Amino acid sequence: MNKKSLLTMKDLTNEEILEILDDAKAFSYSHSDWQLPESAQVLTANLFFEPSTRTHYSFVSAEKQLGLKTVDFQAESSSITKGETLYDTVKVFESVGYQLLVIRHPQDEYFNELKGINIPIINAGDGKGNHPSQCLLDLLTIYQEFGHFDGINVLICGDVAHSRVAASDKEALERFNANVRFSGPKEWEREGYPFSDFDESIEWADVVMLLRIQKERGATLQSLSDDEYLSQYGLTKERYNRMKDHAIIMHPAPVNRGVEIDTDLVESEKSRIFKQMHNGMLVRKAMIKKALGVAPFVREGQE
Ligand code: NCD
Repeated sequence: MNKKSLLTMKDLTNEEILEILDDAKAFSYSHSDWQLPESAQVLTANLFFEPSTRTHYSFVSAEKQLGLKTVDFQAESSSITKGETLYDTVKVFESVGYQLLVIRHPQDEYFNELKGINIPIINAGDGKGNHPSQCLLDLLTIYQEFGHFDGINVLICGDVAHSRVAASDKEALERFNANVRFSGPKEWEREGYPFSDFDESIEWADVVMLLRIQKERGATLQSLSDDEYLSQYGLTKERYNRMKDHAIIMHPAPVNRGVEIDTDLVESEKSRIFKQMHNGMLVRKAMIKKALGVAPFVREGQE
């Protein structure tokens, strides 16, 4: 198998997506101690040019569990502060022997500047463009719940305009025949993502996925207080009570409690928010394995 960068969901066929989900599941039981062949020789670097807790440290956790040697790039103390470009920065890592890079950057599709880099890159989020590892962990969470994607109704609510999670999830879920609806303040409607009536869609949804307001990408709603936002566009207890019995709540997090979701609902029975975080580490192990060109574990019934 060849090494492969994983930049957008388009880099993966449906078959490859299912392989990654199966590998992630295998990591959670039969392969929990599995390490990459010759992993001690594999140097990997995490280059985060935006704040991150979950994505960053679940990649670090995944890398360490796979036995890789891993370092974190510190942008503030690097030559970026002397005006070095992203390309030249990344080229340093390639030149000194790193074999895998995980990169998050605020610029949409920053990776188009990195076409001259010859080691695999995993995109940990580009601006409002793509977030493939979040998408895969969301797919795993939905799959674990329902056993398939076909006909599952997913409602994605909030700051859709600035959300790379909404973009990657829409693309992948629709490829697997899930039904995806959006809702939120009219200002945050995105071209190609028409908004539906929120209160009607709450009763339609099998999955209610909430999004954080991306203030760092310029999202503002000057006229609304946090309480007003919650009551108009967030998951209140009243809306929770109208969700289907089997429906679940998801949120990529960080959560702004009391804004997009009532604080008491973050760890409610229907919430899978912390399950998503655990799944994130499993999926990232599977993505690293794929990026380094290691064949998938044998899938059930496919020997
Ligand atoms: C998301 C992101 O960075 O796009 N968070 C994450 O990766 N867990 C969503 C967000 O920051 O709101």
